[in-house]
Amino acid sequence: MIVAIDGPAASGKGTLAKRVAAHYGLPHLDTGLLYRAVARDALASAIDLDDAAGAAGVAEALEVATLADPDLRTAEIGEAASRVARHPAVRTVLLAYQRTFASAAPGAVLDGRDIGTVICPGADVKLFVSATPEVRALRRFLELTGRGVDISQEAVLADIRARDERDSTRGTAPLVQAKDAVLLDTSNLDIDAAFRAALDLIEAAMSRAGRAG
Ligand code: DC
Repeated sequence: MIVAIDGPAASGKGTLAKRVAAHYGLPHLDTGLLYRAVARDALASAIDLDDAAGAAGVAEALEVATLADPDLRTAEIGEAASRVARHPAVRTVLLAYQRTFASAAPGAVLDGRDIGTVICPGADVKLFVSATPEVRALRRFLELTGRGVDISQEAVLADIRARDERDSTRGTAPLVQAKDAVLLDTSNLDIDAAFRAALDLIEAAMSRAGRAG
């Protein structure tokens, strides 16, 4: 079973994907980490984030073992990731790894921006997880300040809006709900309620597919 979970920054898709994967005993890939790692390595090598060929070269040399680096989670790396993610050449390099991950038995849960539309268009279940920018900014603000980061709620909201804009308007694989994805709005749900809602949607999609097949 392949489960594709897409959505904007701080929608809760990552936490949901992790819990869904654990529930079904499937491997999980947070595809944002791939773009974050490319951004980290580009910055470390002083490669301009707007240099498509340079960033694609970095993507080719990416060591997936470094995706566990906790420093990838910072707001600065998230912003830089959104910039390298605009380059089609970077996306092409990362596509193969994601497809290989998804197609290995017994399946996988992948979360990102373009899983249901580009990476796994044939996924068994597609969820599009969203919430209002204000709710997402509050969640991200609490997470960052909880980790001791000194930042204002306004700055976090501005960052979320800028990333939404860049991720949704880029020419290649923009953030968009796949036609056959089910929307899960988590604005008024805590993580446990969102998880239960996600499981209900997955079970419903699987039983529809079972009946059709
Ligand atoms: O989900 P995240 O915040 O870790 O993602 C960081 C950036 O990476 C995001 O702003 C856009 C990019 N990204 C992407 O373009 N496609 C994906 N499948 C995942 C992330």
